[in-house]
Amino acid sequence: MNAYDMLLTRKSVRSYTGAHVDDELVEKIMLAGTRAPSGMANEPWRFAVVRDPKVKGEIAQLTKHTKVLEGADVLICLFMDNSVGYNATKDANTIGACAENMLLAAHALGLGAVWIAEILKNKEQVTELCGVDGSRYDLMVVIPVGYSAENADPNPRKNSVADCIISRK
Ligand SMILES: Cc1cc2nc3c(=O)[nH]c(=O)nc-3n(C[C@H](O)[C@H](O)[C@H](O)COP(=O)(O)O)c2cc1C
Repeated sequence: MNAYDMLLTRKSVRSYTGAHVDDELVEKIMLAGTRAPSGMANEPWRFAVVRDPKVKGEIAQLTKHTKVLEGADVLICLFMDNSVGYNATKDANTIGACAENMLLAAHALGLGAVWIAEILKNKEQVTELCGVDGSRYDLMVVIPVGYSAENADPNPRKNSVADCIISRK
């Protein structure tokens, strides 16, 4: 599949087969994340990889998406390193670019993943369970990854491109 078709067919995947995802694939997803653009080239992304079923299960209790996180083979928790951040909006944009690269990479590698932000209401507890210093690292996204147990149809959009164009001069 070419890159354009690949990004058009990405979808959020919340149900997984339970099959093991090789570490090599997890590394590739993180590598893709680090290829995102970053403001001032500050590369503020940091990753906590959670495979341990006990820790994964405890993190899963901190979101309404418990079954999604429990069902995933691995969680990639994406943090922003405050020690290299320079502008809250731009750093958040950078982390978003990193997260999207990771979702696209998962799809390109035949995996399913989803952006979980609802869990941020409990980010301090997630950070602690990850064993990460919350005074330096700010949790931005949790990305569960696994082999998809869903149909492959991408989700439709409410608006067409034409609906989204608010000016053309
Ligand atoms: C900032 C952001 C936060 C999101 N938070 C959640 C979330 O907490 N739980 C969830 O199931 N999906 C979450 N999503 C995924 C969206 O629900 C999903 O992208 C949207 O419904 C479009 O579906 P698609 O990704 O399959 O095209 C989030 C996406 C973004 C960009």
